[in-house]
Amino acid sequence: MTQTVKIILTGKDGQLGNALVDKIPAHYNVIQLGRQQLDLSDKEACRQAVLEHRPDWVLNAGAYTAVDKAESEPGLAMAVNAAAPGAFAQALREIGGRLLQVSTDFVFNGSQGHPYHPDQPVDPISVYGATKAEGERLVRETLPATKYCILRTSWVYGPVGSNFCVTMLRLHRQKSAQNETLRVVADQIGCPTSTLNLASACWSVINHQASGIHHFCDAGAASWYDFAIAIGDAGVAAGIINQSAKVVPITTSEYPTPAKRPGYSLLECTRTKSALGIEPNHWRKELSIVMAKIPKPT
Ligand SMILES: NC(=O)c1ccc[n+]([C@@H]2O[C@H](COP(=O)([O-])OP(=O)(O)OC[C@H]3O[C@@H](n4cnc5c(N)ncnc54)[C@H](OP(=O)(O)O)[C@@H]3O)[C@@H](O)[C@H]2O)c1
Repeated sequence: MTQTVKIILTGKDGQLGNALVDKIPAHYNVIQLGRQQLDLSDKEACRQAVLEHRPDWVLNAGAYTAVDKAESEPGLAMAVNAAAPGAFAQALREIGGRLLQVSTDFVFNGSQGHPYHPDQPVDPISVYGATKAEGERLVRETLPATKYCILRTSWVYGPVGSNFCVTMLRLHRQKSAQNETLRVVADQIGCPTSTLNLASACWSVINHQASGIHHFCDAGAASWYDFAIAIGDAGVAAGIINQSAKVVPITTSEYPTPAKRPGYSLLECTRTKSALGIEPNHWRKELSIVMAKIPKPT
């Protein structure tokens, strides 16, 4: 008989959290915590949640993800992205449980020009990246390598939540109606990753008891400009928008933001693909799967 695995899931209302809840495997007992149930900026509450529920795993999908706002709220971002996973790790060490900590390509500086291997040193260039890197460090220094999985991913989007795909669909609709162009950064390269694929990978990590540092993204590479064009085309094909706007490529310097972003942040995923026995879809294929889940306007 399969034994039930008990899991604390944080960030249940986020875009990844939603996809995780949709795909909970049959023999998992998942305690789903959102902001109302657990404040991730309260590290004592994080510790107590683990000691109270005594889970086999904590799947920490909650995070402070407002990359630009983090530049002016470093204390809060550090509490949520670093102190919380640190507290989970400490409590899990006491009870013998495991931690799946979701992390980001933004822990790298983006200047090397070829995909980042999981074992490369981190070098964040934003407050958000620094807080996620600190969360990774606390997890690594608190738990033995067999008891944690740090799963880095990139450019996450899905059918719900606030993300680039949903925003671009709205802008394509607005700009095309007004016969205006959409200006999108073309000199940052990464890989879009759907929450649907990422959620499956997270459950697979737990199923395989994968450990150490892992990278998971959809296949291929894109600039935000490429992604914006593909979203317009896929949105029209899926009947979500009537027409797409003309997209004009611009440079990062033409679109200044409070936080710096890596220029090239592809992640090398070979270790994860072989550990989990998975071959992710190309991001274009995955985009059409996500589009099919976005409600058409009535
Ligand atoms: N989004 C990306 O492009 C991206 C890229 C690479 C890695 N990641 C990582 O992927 C993971 C999932 O991100 P996501 O895209 O699903 O982000 P998301 O949609 O912003 O979800 C994060 C969740 O955490 C919650 N949260 C934030 N502060 C909290 C607090 N103090 N207490 C309790 N809950 C709190 C948020 O609640 P509210 O909505 O109420 O704030 C939200 O429900 C994160 O670890 C993120 O760092 C994301």
